[in-house]
Amino acid sequence: MSRFYVTTPIYYVTDPPHLGHAYTTVVADALARFHRMRGDETRFLTGTDEHGQKIERMAAARGKAPKEYADSVSTAYRDAWATLGVSYDDFIRTTDADHEAVVLELWQRMVDKGDIYLAEYEGWYCVACEQYYTEKELAPNNHCVVHATPVEKVKEETFFFRLKKYQQPLLDFYDSVLASTGKTFIEPASRMNEVRAFVEGGLDDLSVSRSTFEWGIPVPAAATKKRHVIYVWIDALTNYYSATRRKGLNGFWDKDVNIVHLMGKEITRQHAVYWPALLMSAGLLLPSKIIAHGWWTVDGEKMSKTRGNVVNPLTLAADLGSADAFRYFVMREVPLGSDGDFSHDSLINRYNAELCNDLGNLLNRTLGMVNRYFGDDLLGSGDASARAAADDACTEVEGAMIAFSPSVALEAIWKLVRWTNTFIERSAPWKLTGDAQKSVLWSALECCRVIAHLVSPFMPERAGEMLRQLGLSEADRWPSWNPDHTYAVLGATPVFPRIDDDRRTALLAKWSPPVATGDAAAQQSSSGAAQQNTAASQQAAPDAKPPIAYDDFAKLDLRVAKIAAAERVPKKDKLLKLTIDLGAGGTRTVVAGVAARYAPEALVGKSVIFLANLKPAKIGGVMSEGMLLAAGDPDVLALSSLDVDCPPGTRVK
Ligand code: ME8
Ligand code: MG
Repeated sequence: MSRFYVTTPIYYVTDPPHLGHAYTTVVADALARFHRMRGDETRFLTGTDEHGQKIERMAAARGKAPKEYADSVSTAYRDAWATLGVSYDDFIRTTDADHEAVVLELWQRMVDKGDIYLAEYEGWYCVACEQYYTEKELAPNNHCVVHATPVEKVKEETFFFRLKKYQQPLLDFYDSVLASTGKTFIEPASRMNEVRAFVEGGLDDLSVSRSTFEWGIPVPAAATKKRHVIYVWIDALTNYYSATRRKGLNGFWDKDVNIVHLMGKEITRQHAVYWPALLMSAGLLLPSKIIAHGWWTVDGEKMSKTRGNVVNPLTLAADLGSADAFRYFVMREVPLGSDGDFSHDSLINRYNAELCNDLGNLLNRTLGMVNRYFGDDLLGSGDASARAAADDACTEVEGAMIAFSPSVALEAIWKLVRWTNTFIERSAPWKLTGDAQKSVLWSALECCRVIAHLVSPFMPERAGEMLRQLGLSEADRWPSWNPDHTYAVLGATPVFPRIDDDRRTALLAKWSPPVATGDAAAQQSSSGAAQQNTAASQQAAPDAKPPIAYDDFAKLDLRVAKIAAAERVPKKDKLLKLTIDLGAGGTRTVVAGVAARYAPEALVGKSVIFLANLKPAKIGGVMSEGMLLAAGDPDVLALSSLDVDCPPGTRVK
């Protein structure tokens, strides 16, 4: 038995998770579940990255203390992982006191090693990346290549880490991993080449503290008048180690453990250069492997809030009745390491073809025939070719997962699914009788059992349902053909009900509403109303509405409202039921579609702008008396707020 430790990046607490964060996390989850099933002693860590300038600014923009803001988004991450079936062993937050203590301990080790010194830093910084860049690494006009936003010039006193000193030790380390394992330290190997070229090109010492903002772990006993906080990447990377000093993962920073860091390709430098150098300086063990996966776009475009094309996996899970179709799709659609393009259309195509037809029908027809031809237990007497097909699939899946290739593993499983379907057609058990019929059907059941086990790391919830229908309990061990198995199966209900054309149209309209076309915008600007607009230079957004007179606006009774209570609306995962305090205007009940963005407890006490004279209407079965103003369309991104607190009921105009 071996020991396996897999991590995801700890995510910035800027917004709740989207497709990209969910992707890394479900891949890590599938790897962890696979290793557990094989009997490996396994640990899986995820969490949130909560310090730094980006979070400090974001919280300030929302009028919140950084910790309060971090709490709400970190909770949204945990909630999302629960919905997506993510089986982490520990969830670490960089604001956890025990983590902070270990960061200080590592800092001290670096100081003791003589690797930290104070000097002036001048250069470029991308706050979105929380990363320093040299001039030659920037896109034209001093833009960040990852975010395509302007970087900032920083000039401040900082502590430096002697990264330059580790150039040769890092190159030696990469060589030693290749020599001892036959594989590059970073996979895919192309990413290793990039990092190696970067290191060979010469390293600069790294600025590892900031003194121009507050939100971070203070540098202890610094010989300077300024207050410094530890650079957020030093703080964040340490999580992988600090978690192994806590209960759940205790002892997992060990030479006998296969320590694997999984992440998106944009943060390989921090993981493959800074992190090993820091560990060398602190005299600690280095990780075994870095897996850098590709980057998802959506319908060919970068995901962005302004474009409104951010894919929310929770919406997909809710609408498809299980998170497993999403999990399957993202792991099957692209090989780990390659970039991928997400389209809702392909999601439904794969759902219908591979989950509903190939897999769902196999189980359904097999159980149907067993129930029709045999009332009672069906004992084994298997077909040799079925056994060979199942054994091959087990071997291929195991090899693929050990090599971090979930898409290859899924292909191997589907080879068996299709083989079994063909086997049934070819053997035509409905024409057979007696032992011959029994042998075919028992073999088909045994293939279904092996398949349900093999898919369980990818689709734990639906695999559980498949096994239940087969009369079995959960997939807790690696499958192998068992000629002595006696089946007592249950009735079949489709594990992946078909999405018919009407439902497909409805889902697509909901998931990716059509954006306003050039035609619609042109029509609007040539309308009479638009021409009355004297501000000729005023540009209209493509989805702009025609101008209105002030009198129209004055019909709205807008008020400051304080949210007094909030709760979920049963069975409506988008809706929250809120009690609103309007001061002298009394209290109201309103139903707001903000549940995907806000946890109920995060809303209580907030003041928002409220439309008080909207005619009451029933939403989600509850009478709603008014409306909160919020930004974002179709998904709510932020609630309206006031820059200073006003008494409830105050008019807004
Ligand atoms: O970088 N496609 O956090 P982060 C694929 N806090 N993966 C994506 C993605 C996309 N479009 N968008 C995000 C940070 N990801 C730091 C990490 S670790 C010590 C500190 C995933 O919130 C992918 O795993 O920006 C990527 O590396 C990660 O989210 C970045 O998350
Ligand atoms: Mg990022």
